[in-house]
Amino acid sequence: MEFEQICHPNIYEIRVYNSKIETANAFAQHAIIGDVKKFPSLPITNATGDTMLPIDTELKRAVDAGEVSFEQVLAYHLDEYHPYSPGAQFSFVKFLRDNIFKPLHIPQRNIFTLNGLATNPVDEANRYDELVTKHKIGLAILGIGPGGHIGFNEAGTSFNSRTHLQVLSEETYKRDTIERGQDTPKTALTQGISTILEADRIVLVAYGRYKGQILRKALFEDISTDCPASALRLQGHKVSIFVDKEAASEIILGIVV
Ligand code: GLP
Repeated sequence: MEFEQICHPNIYEIRVYNSKIETANAFAQHAIIGDVKKFPSLPITNATGDTMLPIDTELKRAVDAGEVSFEQVLAYHLDEYHPYSPGAQFSFVKFLRDNIFKPLHIPQRNIFTLNGLATNPVDEANRYDELVTKHKIGLAILGIGPGGHIGFNEAGTSFNSRTHLQVLSEETYKRDTIERGQDTPKTALTQGISTILEADRIVLVAYGRYKGQILRKALFEDISTDCPASALRLQGHKVSIFVDKEAASEIILGIVV
């Protein structure tokens, strides 16, 4: 698949594909499957959300076609609502079970999830952070959300943050409950920014103008806790970003000539 590139002083690569589906397929192939073929027991931080759905479809196609196996990967994830049951409709663990763990045949012993029902969320966050740190994530998969959040790290979150309980921004809460009709709470467990940045390789995907606008801020405005995703520039040598043309049309507006 052909792509163009946007040059950025800190980021290893920003690839631009023609359409959402081309971006998703290329992301599955070049950001995920390629690494899993090279390192079959790769520890991966998985992402959730609408952005990931066409990517997960392509991963399943590749697995069903025998092109790659995920049976040895160690599966982690970014975030989960708290308090919220892993069986509930909008749980991220449920999303991953339905779209990643089961379709890619990842055995239960290789799956490490955040417990949205943990009675002590601080202990749960610390437990998860220790696990992630111990296994050393080889590949962190990211989307981007309202206000430039990565995982559920909202504006104002320290770049030194570890896995923690996060109060969601009004914007995120509104997106979830009003726009998406979810019954999810206003708090969530999330890998911290520092935790995410420790991965060996970080890959982020986004489509459409709205996400492009968020990325423009993250990539070209100040590196600041006002925009959590701007922290990626601090480890930009290991960051690859895949976007469609629509997102790219917004990103390039940030380039000052
Ligand atoms: C969610 C998650 C993020 C995700 C982002 C985008 O709230 N916390 O991990 O990347 O927002 O979601 P979507 O792809 O549905 O737009």
